[in-house]
Amino acid sequence: MRIPVGVLGATGAVGQKFIKLLESHPWLEVTQVAASERSAGKHYADAVSWKQNTPIPETVRDLEVRPCTPHLDCKIVFSGLDASVAGEVEENFARAGYVVLSNSRNHRMDADVPLVIPELNHDHLGLIPVQRRRRDGHGYIITNSNCSTMFLAMALGPLHRAFTVEKVFVTTMQAISGAGYPGVPSLDILGNVIPFIGGEEEKMEIETRKILGRLNGESIQLADFAVSAQCNRVAVEDGHTESVSVKFARKTTVEEIAETFRGFSGPPQRLRLPSAPEHPLIVMPEKDRPQPRFDVNHSGGMAALVGRIRPCSVLDFKFTVLGHNTIRGAAGASILNAELLKAQGFLD
Ligand SMILES: NC(=O)c1ccc[n+]([C@@H]2O[C@H](COP(=O)([O-])OP(=O)(O)OC[C@H]3O[C@@H](n4cnc5c(N)ncnc54)[C@H](OP(=O)(O)O)[C@@H]3O)[C@@H](O)[C@H]2O)c1
Repeated sequence: MRIPVGVLGATGAVGQKFIKLLESHPWLEVTQVAASERSAGKHYADAVSWKQNTPIPETVRDLEVRPCTPHLDCKIVFSGLDASVAGEVEENFARAGYVVLSNSRNHRMDADVPLVIPELNHDHLGLIPVQRRRRDGHGYIITNSNCSTMFLAMALGPLHRAFTVEKVFVTTMQAISGAGYPGVPSLDILGNVIPFIGGEEEKMEIETRKILGRLNGESIQLADFAVSAQCNRVAVEDGHTESVSVKFARKTTVEEIAETFRGFSGPPQRLRLPSAPEHPLIVMPEKDRPQPRFDVNHSGGMAALVGRIRPCSVLDFKFTVLGHNTIRGAAGASILNAELLKAQGFLD
């Protein structure tokens, strides 16, 4: 018996990735899809502009798209909702008793909402009872990070534990699919780089510190380092590439950093969660990798690829990290969070 789940924003770029990734999931089954009033009432196949490289799952094609109100026949909902509506809708679902796994920015920095990367801060799930008490309900909201934050945090996490991060500069080259569908107009992005993604730099600078922060009683104490982010949209379909420079409190070497990346794992690997990559960080030895065209689908899009680890003449070291923005950076991350919740008894 698989657990029935709903997908809010099921017609969007992230929503479609949920539908695709959950098609043959061993524990979870999509039984409800919901989106805006424009889509509600239609069969899913008629409402969606399907952009995945596999067909719409037979079990989902004919589902009726429901409005995003908390009357879905399931206990768990994944949210790929547009941020303009996600805040209120997700809150309504949680208040009505649903477990909400959100991809939107709206609740990520709420003091009682866990912002989780299971390999790094599974203990932040300790906020669930706090949230239930404060919001007076049985449901709750769990968020995953902004897509570019995801790969920065995955790379910095083990380094912070080993060498204590003090300062970070990060410059991103972010794929078009990160802007949803239809997203950035083709005439704006073809043959071009757009050096602005609204709100993205601020999200990277603060979310990273929450993820790597410490659960202190009933709140998260932010990690004590500064992040300076510069975000660019580039003409790549999938995959965010990030150039990172880091200063550490402790002395280290390129070899130690590579070893630290290689040795990184956490509860998803120990618990053998269905969506967990065998190695969350893959170190690429080639001098010109990782590249989105060749590497973004490594480990089913659930790993982050690291390369070009070398000394930095301003801070201490620099490297490149790449990840799949709609898989590990969005839907896959939420699914991994749901698997962790189940494994730790939070779905009972
Ligand atoms: N794309 C990425 O790589 C990525 C990564 C991480 C996080 N995120 C976040 O995930 C969320 C979804 O992003 P996306 O890229 O999938 O966007 P998208 O392609 O624009 O999809 C947005 C979804 O929200 C629904 N929606 C819009 N207005 C609504 C309303 N008033 N009521 C109910 N549903 C409504 C849309 O339904 P209709 O089709 O019916 O309009 C659609 O299903 C955003 O918050 C985004 O910031 C995206």
